[in-house]
Amino acid sequence: MNENNDDILIQLKGLTKRFGNFYAVSNIDLEIKRGEIVGFLGPNGAGKTTTMKMMAYLLRPTAGEIWIRNNGDLTRLSSKNRDYLLDNIGFMIEIPTFYGDMTPRQILSYFANLKGYPRKKVKIRVEEVVRLFGLSEWIDTKIKKFSKGMKQKIGIGSAIIHDPEIIVLDEPQTGLDPKARKDVRDLILKLKQMEKTIFLSSHLLYEISEVADRIAIIHKSKLIAYDTLDNLELKSRKSLINFELIDYSKHNLTDLIERLNKIILPLNGLGSGSVNKIRFNENSKMFEVPFNGVPENQLKIHKALFENNFNVLEFSVPKANLLESLFIDLTDESYKEMLSPEREIIPN
Ligand SMILES: Nc1ncnc2c1ncn2[C@@H]1O[C@H](COP(=O)(O)OP(=O)(O)O)[C@@H](O)[C@H]1O
Ligand SMILES: [Mg+2]
Repeated sequence: MNENNDDILIQLKGLTKRFGNFYAVSNIDLEIKRGEIVGFLGPNGAGKTTTMKMMAYLLRPTAGEIWIRNNGDLTRLSSKNRDYLLDNIGFMIEIPTFYGDMTPRQILSYFANLKGYPRKKVKIRVEEVVRLFGLSEWIDTKIKKFSKGMKQKIGIGSAIIHDPEIIVLDEPQTGLDPKARKDVRDLILKLKQMEKTIFLSSHLLYEISEVADRIAIIHKSKLIAYDTLDNLELKSRKSLINFELIDYSKHNLTDLIERLNKIILPLNGLGSGSVNKIRFNENSKMFEVPFNGVPENQLKIHKALFENNFNVLEFSVPKANLLESLFIDLTDESYKEMLSPEREIIPN
């Protein structure tokens, strides 16, 4: 980690929260860079809300630090600077509740004033945010007439009313119907286009994967992965076959890999994208073949090599790493929940 990296807007260092003897958040290191959407993914109870509450200074960490960029410098969040440091961030943590008799105009004006937004500009800003959310004709309607999705938008609106550079949203799509969920997703993407930096949580992989540039996975209070979805998939759903060819050095390596790709890619169960191609490992002198981890595919690849007269000296599948086993082991109920495909429950 490099504190001089100008692109880092938020840095969590060893962030930890203990309730009694129970660790809700354990030693989390995380960097959020300018302009990116970072998804914070983990099953219910993993520690997402607790992490975000510490970022918002609603909870004090048991250990660790939170650094936030403000006026160019990364500064450690403390009781002394919390007010101005957090000005640069808009938080929506847990489901907001509003007085049903208030209108979006009243609610958003209230939050704009609370955050010290220039008084004279509040009216225009409120109208701008409501327009951004597609709720212009509802601006003076009482919230109690709103659907859950509309209320959620007003919740996000109140988080961003002061136009912060960074936006932190805790489960913004949870509990919404598919249409509202899509609206919220589109809104998040619009905010990204406006060059906002966004940190959002979900317990569902599909929600996160639709918007996030990078995904931080939290499981039982610990960060177990932080990468792009592509890289996570590469690491998680795939295994690697390593094999050695006794006479590979007699061949032009590029041509040889080309031939191997032609034979093996149709059999690896992953499709033929560039990330799935065969690599030659200079250190081990082994060819590395990503595949779907299914024994049948492994066998097919093994057979195809022999049938095409390759002299295979060694052929092995290294043990899966931690992340692989976490994802592949769908006996773990919490991961089943995270990976479950979208289900639309349509009321009668
Ligand atoms: N104030 C608290 N006191 C004791 N335990 C808590 C408290 N807040 C949260 N927890 C526990 O910490 C764990 C993480 O909670 P939370 O951060 O809300 O998870 P998530 O948002 O990922 O669902 C859960 O097991 C929860 O029960
Ligand atoms: Mg939560």
